[in-house]
Amino acid sequence: MKNLSYILNVVLIAFIGYMAYSFIYDGNVATGTEDRTAVVLTSAEKAEVLGEMRGLLETVQAVINAATSDDVASIPEIVKPYGMAAVEQESVQLAAKLPLELKTMGYDAHRAMDALGEMAANGASGEEILSTLGGAMGLCVSCHGTYRFVAEEDVK
Ligand code: HEC
Repeated sequence: MKNLSYILNVVLIAFIGYMAYSFIYDGNVATGTEDRTAVVLTSAEKAEVLGEMRGLLETVQAVINAATSDDVASIPEIVKPYGMAAVEQESVQLAAKLPLELKTMGYDAHRAMDALGEMAANGASGEEILSTLGGAMGLCVSCHGTYRFVAEEDVK
């Protein structure tokens, strides 16, 4: 009897360990015919992250405009809402559904926005800003190549 409960404990601990691992690393994903991994969110969460994405695109456009029209001084204000400050608004539930790799790339993208603001505040030239932005946009490209968002209402 003792042996059995020992074995059950080992199984239970292994299961809890696996759940913790998959909670942290995998997030909530579904597999499909597409190469990109589908991250399953509620439709409200999907709308929220896509809205954030459109904001990122607008920010990139505004930074390019500022950098090419001698208005580097306006960049810190432009990027502010999309720096790490944006991450603090995200819910724990949403964060738990995002795979670690996606979250890391996402945080790096927000950090890159803060870095552009700092560069601009420290007197970087428009060209230096554009070059750093170009590099940071590699994050947009690689994340888009790897993941897509689907609403859970659409997978069932
Ligand atoms: C951490 C991953 C990640 C990063 C980094 C990222 N995106 Fe996205 N983005 C996504 C995913 C996933 C989608 C949804 C694609 C899909 O479902 O087909 C998306 C969608 C979008 C959309 C479409 C929004 C809509 O309304 O459908 C835009 C625009 C966009 N991203 C812009 C950007 C820009 C610009 C950057 C970089 C400054 C960026 N994204 C960085 C993951 C990311």
